[in-house]
Amino acid sequence: MKKNILRIIKLKNKKPLVCLTAYSKPFAKILDKYCDIVLVGDSLATAMYGMKNTRSVNIEMMIRHGIAVKSNLNKALCVVDMPIDSYKNIPQAKKNAKLIFKKTKCDAVKMECNGKNYDIIKSIVDIGIPVMGHIGFTPQYFKKFKVQGILNKEKSKLLRQAKKNQEAGVFSMVLECINKTTAKQITESIDIPTIGIGASAHCDGQILVTDDMLGLSGFYPKFVKKFINLNNIIELAVKKYKKDIITKNFPRNKNTF
Ligand code: KIV
Repeated sequence: MKKNILRIIKLKNKKPLVCLTAYSKPFAKILDKYCDIVLVGDSLATAMYGMKNTRSVNIEMMIRHGIAVKSNLNKALCVVDMPIDSYKNIPQAKKNAKLIFKKTKCDAVKMECNGKNYDIIKSIVDIGIPVMGHIGFTPQYFKKFKVQGILNKEKSKLLRQAKKNQEAGVFSMVLECINKTTAKQITESIDIPTIGIGASAHCDGQILVTDDMLGLSGFYPKFVKKFINLNNIIELAVKKYKKDIITKNFPRNKNTF
């Protein structure tokens, strides 16, 4: 196993993993200073492109943004999401995972679990491409939002999925919108780090969509903490720009050739 992947696994029970999403160079450069993992998530569909959900993302988009991010990271591990229609069977998954891995030079790919695709996930690990798993509310497969793992039968299903992902060889696993006791039990029952989004402080690490935590996306469910309201700050700057143009305060001599 590669050193950078081993390092992430070894951090379980030692230090909480700091993870965020990025889709572009400026964000990658900032996040690289603070994050253990930077995910080029298929959330770029909604956050960047204004699409209705993540199901419209294609492999070309993931590769394009994957290159922009990975080429601007020095320290953080770069994980690129596999879009929904890119891993329906083993030959297709292998072909597309190899393409993403080769073109973006990312460190790993992420694959959402649909409760059946363990052999597909394993086939990617087996060709030497590290895989991050993803269970719980997996946006590629769920149409309607619902917190997962509340009922006992949901809890057992998620525990089974976590174990099966680990057996398939994933090096870490996103737990999305999973109730606190179930997330705790999953985290304690596996040897690889869990990375929570809406899955409580019991996970080994946390991830948010960067646009959400910066107040840029307009998407603020309970699990998102808005660390700043960039939307307001950008609006203020654009207003000032407009005012300066109208009042002939910009461009000044110093901005002129
Ligand atoms: O696409 C994404 O950004 C994700 C994270 C929210 C985990 O899958």
